[in-house]
Amino acid sequence: MTTTPPGAAAETVLAFPPGFVWGASTAAYQIEGAAHEDGRGPSVWDTFSHTPGKVRRGDTGDVACDAYHRSCDDLDLMSSLGLRAYRFSIAWPRIQPTGKGPVNQPALDHYRSLVEGLRDRNIAPAVTLYHWDLPQALEDAGGWPERETAERFAEYAAIVGEALGDTVSLWITLNEPEVVANQGYRTGRHAPGLRDPARAAAATHHLLLAHGLATQALRSVLPTGTPVGVTLNLTHVRPAGDDATAAASAVDAEANRIFLDPIVVGAYPAEARPVLLPPDRLVHAGDMELVASQLDFLGVNYYAPTIVGLRDWSDLRRNEQPLDGHPGVVTIRPDELARTSMGWLVDPDGLRELLLRLHRDAPGLPLYITENGCAADDYVDPEGGVDDDERIRYVHDHLAAAHQAIAAGVALKGYFVWSLLDNFEWAQGYSRRFGIVFVDFGTQRRIPKRSAAYYARVVRENALLPVEAIGS
Ligand code: FCB
Repeated sequence: MTTTPPGAAAETVLAFPPGFVWGASTAAYQIEGAAHEDGRGPSVWDTFSHTPGKVRRGDTGDVACDAYHRSCDDLDLMSSLGLRAYRFSIAWPRIQPTGKGPVNQPALDHYRSLVEGLRDRNIAPAVTLYHWDLPQALEDAGGWPERETAERFAEYAAIVGEALGDTVSLWITLNEPEVVANQGYRTGRHAPGLRDPARAAAATHHLLLAHGLATQALRSVLPTGTPVGVTLNLTHVRPAGDDATAAASAVDAEANRIFLDPIVVGAYPAEARPVLLPPDRLVHAGDMELVASQLDFLGVNYYAPTIVGLRDWSDLRRNEQPLDGHPGVVTIRPDELARTSMGWLVDPDGLRELLLRLHRDAPGLPLYITENGCAADDYVDPEGGVDDDERIRYVHDHLAAAHQAIAAGVALKGYFVWSLLDNFEWAQGYSRRFGIVFVDFGTQRRIPKRSAAYYARVVRENALLPVEAIGS
């Protein structure tokens, strides 16, 4: 059926390469709930969300989407959407309630049945080992600023790798270590809520080290050839004019390269301000080689670009923000770019540029978009549906950008939309909806949005369809 409006040029259907991986992403603390069940210990996010004033409206992940109890229904939901892959995270405080010591078997059994349920439905499991839920006991012992946390993480990785190694298709050690270090330990906007630049810089190194050690640990227990990688949040840094090129490059060093360079080239970027980098005494001999040596793929989370300009800080315009640590430099939110309900700029070209840049920086390295999506003010209409045209447009335009990157030779192997379900959006609580499936948090009813139908068709056809393809 063609749904192109009369008179409009038909958009070409853009085919993706055979075997392209189509999935959706979630994270344990954002969806599982069951905070006290089957021996789960507390994580830093339990502590943080239960601290008054930290999360919008005092929301917590105690119940979230209750996904821990609803795996069967959610598996069937994914199957009905035809997903080929599901990226979820394993809660460290379920596997080791205090972050070390004996394994909590009921938790391993839970995840074992989840991956088997995925396999039964021909959905490839992509596991993230750490999506921000550090066991509170490890934070009490110093958290990521301590080297020992990286060592504990490698032990945990080996436990999970051994238990699930034969069934998982992709292993992702960490999700967005930059956010953990900076929001967790520098700005305090995320758990554990510290504002301490020295600890943030130490956390940066120990998170990277944790990736290296965990990769090594996984390799020793996984079947040979099982892909292991890491997911970074990366932004495309665009100068607002020629005069801002050097400033943009400095911002890129601090936003992207502090995490990217150690993994790809084994060194911290010289352009980043020293205050952001770990002191030499924390970087032991062999650390950087370990961090750099072993990537099978890179997971890319892309949401928005960063636009950088030079301005007099005493005379700023409405859409300009001074950039901390860079006098005379601002980030700009141009009016001509749309924003999501997070306030994030919508710029699919930024995704294409970012993918091309990764292709230049790390030629041939397989890439997966492990998160991309948008928050919107979704609601259930009187007919019982959720019309999220904005999200359909967002996904469509970003997939078009991804397709252009592939056509230019980028080794992009898959795309995971964020998120399968509306969920606990960290410091924003339940006020921001990112799902392709609506969740009524009162009843836990799941209602696939129109974007879910659109995405399901893209997956089925392995091709980007015009936005109008699903009709109204
Ligand atoms: C990313 C996180 C993910 C989700 C999205 C919106 O930074 O990895 O958990 O919150 O942002």
